Amino acid sequence: MNVIVVKNAEEISKVAYEKMVKAFEGKAEFTLGLATGGSPLGIYELFRIHKPEVSNVITVNLDEYVGLAEDDQTSYHTYMAEQLFNHLNFKENHLPNGNTKNLEEACKNYEELLQKHPVDLQLLGIGENGHIAFNEPGTPFDTPTHIVELTESTRNANKIYFENEEDVPTHAVTMGIGSIMRAKEIILVASGIKKAEAVKEMLNGKLDINCPATALQNHNNVTIVVDEEAYSLCN
Ligand code: F6R
Repeated sequence: MNVIVVKNAEEISKVAYEKMVKAFEGKAEFTLGLATGGSPLGIYELFRIHKPEVSNVITVNLDEYVGLAEDDQTSYHTYMAEQLFNHLNFKENHLPNGNTKNLEEACKNYEELLQKHPVDLQLLGIGENGHIAFNEPGTPFDTPTHIVELTESTRNANKIYFENEEDVPTHAVTMGIGSIMRAKEIILVASGIKKAEAVKEMLNGKLDINCPATALQNHNNVTIVVDEEAYSLCN
C-alpha cells in the first residue's frame, strides 16, 4: 500500500481531492465511489469551492442506514445531497436503498448497479475498530452488498449525528468487502489519534477478518492518506 503522511486533516483533504479530480478529469465516463462520516467533509468542501467538471462522473456511495427516509436529516442521502450533490452536476448519483421492506432485493439491485458501473476510484474512511464501509469485524472478505447489524462501537461513534442515542439506527445496507475490493483504485483517508490503532493494524497487522481494513493489503492500487497522529503507532 502506498502511504502518504501529512500534517493534519486539512492536508489530507487537499491530497485526496487532488488525486480524485486528476483521476476523473478528461475521462469519457468515470465511476467514483464515495463515503460519508467526518473524514470526507474537507474533501467535499473542496469540491464545493473549486466546482470541478463532474458531468462525466457517476457516483456510488458505500452505505446507507436501514429505516430512515431518504429526506431524513440524518440519512446518508441527505448528507450527500447537502455536502455534494446539491452543489455540482454529476452524471448520476447512487446510494443503497435502506428504506424498503425488501432489503435483500435492494442489496441485489445495488450489486447489479456496481457490475454495470465498476468503480474506478473508491474513497474510504476507516472505523476505530477497523471497519470499512459498514463491514464490521468478523465480516468475510468476499461479501457483496449486504445488510449489517451495527456494532456498539460504530453506533457510539455515530451518535453525535443524532439527537437521541436511541435514534441511531441498528442496521445498515453496505457494500461488502468483496464489492469494495473490485474498485480499480482505492484512497483511504484517516486523521486523528482515535484512528491510530486501526491504521496500524491495517498496515502492519496480519490479514484478519477481525480488522476488515486488512483486506486492503490484497489490493494492488491503494493509497492511504493519513496525518501524523493517525500514523503515530506505525513508526
Ligand atoms: C461511511 C463509512 C464508514 C466511515 C467510518 C469512519 O460511509 O462507510 O466506514 O468511513 O466509520 O467514519 P468517520 O470518518 O466519521 O470517522
